[in-house]
Amino acid sequence: MNAYVRFSEDLEVEQPDEDAKIRDIVELLAATNRATFESVRHAKRDTHAKGQGFVKGTLTVVDDLPPELAQSLFAGPGRYPVVIRLATEPGAMLDDRQPAARGLAMKVFGVPGDKMAGDGRTTHDFLFNNCPILPLAEVTTYREIQALRAHYVDDPDGLADAIAARDDAELQTLFERLPNIHLLGNAYYSQSAFRYGDYVVKYGLFPNTDAQRALAEREIDADDPPGVLTEWLRDYLAAAEAGFDFRVQLQTDPRTMPIEDASVDWDQRASPYRTVARLHIPAQDPFTPERRVYSEDILSFDPWAGRADLRPLGSINRVRAKAYRASSTFRHRMNARAEHEPEHIDEIPD
Ligand code: HEM
Repeated sequence: MNAYVRFSEDLEVEQPDEDAKIRDIVELLAATNRATFESVRHAKRDTHAKGQGFVKGTLTVVDDLPPELAQSLFAGPGRYPVVIRLATEPGAMLDDRQPAARGLAMKVFGVPGDKMAGDGRTTHDFLFNNCPILPLAEVTTYREIQALRAHYVDDPDGLADAIAARDDAELQTLFERLPNIHLLGNAYYSQSAFRYGDYVVKYGLFPNTDAQRALAEREIDADDPPGVLTEWLRDYLAAAEAGFDFRVQLQTDPRTMPIEDASVDWDQRASPYRTVARLHIPAQDPFTPERRVYSEDILSFDPWAGRADLRPLGSINRVRAKAYRASSTFRHRMNARAEHEPEHIDEIPD
């Protein structure tokens, strides 16, 4: 049997000049966001600027989990309402025909337990992208890449040349080679490590219907419209329901499964992803004007606001503790919208 690494506060290792790098990254992200604001005169998220759809669903914890999986929110029976925002990763409003990482942010309602935010919220946010790893890896690499993005904010060819000149060009261009498919056909991953009660995991969402798995066969091509991802999502959910398995991958070896380098894919043969909950998304319209405005301008997701015993780990996550707040504050200020954390699924418009 595998020995699961037990969570302890000293698993994390501060990176060289970490605080200065975090400050730089947050400022560089804000600078590129201000440039986006100037082009559309409406504030977007620093990243994941293009919302593709906004759906409601239910997350149900699997019965009778073994002790290593029956942790934190998943320790006992539970059935939680959720809202999910699907988005395209960069801070610019890309054409859907351009391959890019797709994000899935899920807010779970009615979550008991101590929270990191200390603001009385009853929600927990899980954030995913459709790639098992994050090429940005840690704060040193991220700072370098974000500096290039800020420098070439109006010059995509210049940015591509600068990245191509790096030793890790293959890794840093990985998101451009992700299959460009229906949003419900992707698997989505935390990419980085998280505390999971007594243990440490990465987590993921995996399509669990044959119909969704079949969607992965069809790639977007040049004849599809620029907003094809939202169009396909609306068409699919007009008539059918969707589902994902929520799985966790327990850390079993701190050396080959590092917390401080999110570009390392943890070996699934050594520790497979195991299902702890099931996500059900009923048929619905994911892109009504009310939902679009609510999800784009009012709602925020934050990996550092939910349950303390599911907290993010590693420098790539420590930078997120500052970045999400800064981005959300700018967006709400510039769009003259009050920030509001919903307490109940009934607050979410249809
Ligand atoms: C480690 C893996 C990561 C994943 C899986 C991830 C995923 C996501 C997702 C899905 C969203 C969209 C949230 C929404 O719909 O509102 C998002 C937003 C965002 N992400 Fe990340 N992200 C990661 C790492 C990072 C890092 C390292 C940073 C920066 C330091 C970052 C900065 C942001 C910011 C600023 C937003 C916008 C927040 C807002 O304005 O509300 N992310 N991320």
